[in-house]
Amino acid sequence: MIRIAVVQFTPALGDKPWNLQALRRIIERSEADLIVLPELCTTGYFFTSKHELAPLAEVPDGEASRMFGALATSKRSIIVAGIAERSGASYFNSVFVFRPGEPEPLVYRKSHLFYKESMVFEPGDTGFPVFRDERLDVTVGVMLCYDWRFPEAARCLALEGADVIVCPSNLVTDAWRKVMPARAIENKLFVAVANRAGTEDRDGEVLEFKGHSALYDPWGEALLQAGPSGDDVLVAEIDPSRSRDKRFNDRNDIFLDRRPELYARLLRM
Ligand code: ACM
Repeated sequence: MIRIAVVQFTPALGDKPWNLQALRRIIERSEADLIVLPELCTTGYFFTSKHELAPLAEVPDGEASRMFGALATSKRSIIVAGIAERSGASYFNSVFVFRPGEPEPLVYRKSHLFYKESMVFEPGDTGFPVFRDERLDVTVGVMLCYDWRFPEAARCLALEGADVIVCPSNLVTDAWRKVMPARAIENKLFVAVANRAGTEDRDGEVLEFKGHSALYDPWGEALLQAGPSGDDVLVAEIDPSRSRDKRFNDRNDIFLDRRPELYARLLRM
């Protein structure tokens, strides 16, 4: 069994010191093996120029990484955080995964950019990472927010052996609440969605973030569910091995029943 914490957190746009302090307090109070934070949790979301993002973006051994890395080691927790990443002159909407005792985070760069993100970020080039933690006997796959609209993302992670998909998010529509459980069912695994709440207003354009952070089990049932607004830390114990048997009756196995030879040509289009 592992304890997983899904954190709903509303960052202050552009105020990294405030966000880091608030996130530190949340993590210090959380007792969990795996802590999932929202997308762009150290900076806020709605950036419309690289110029304004530049002083806030992180390299993998930067200020935020040092804080999260030290917390991961002292708490013996895996910490998954959505972070604006700088790499040379490029910026990526990334997830950094901090593991106890690991000097550098594992980095996932968002594959599918949403709305005005392409004004600031480059499309990700990492593919969909999966990592194994032997101590906890869990395999974790990483995707990010709008990746939910592409079933290929969750499928890649499932085929790579993920027991749990972590999905830091800043979701502004409601459709995902119907679809994220489907990602859990069709891959028979756990899905942890750490969303944010609140609003951000840029020159009169208001984005409303929808909250409802959740943890779905391999049958698509919500084990945890936050409200539409406000911050929250939701904690549940799960047995990751319950995702490994892909049968749902004594004749059907969702992996063995696949027909990749029929999908291959279309998937390359
Ligand atoms: C999103 O990808 N932030 C909707």
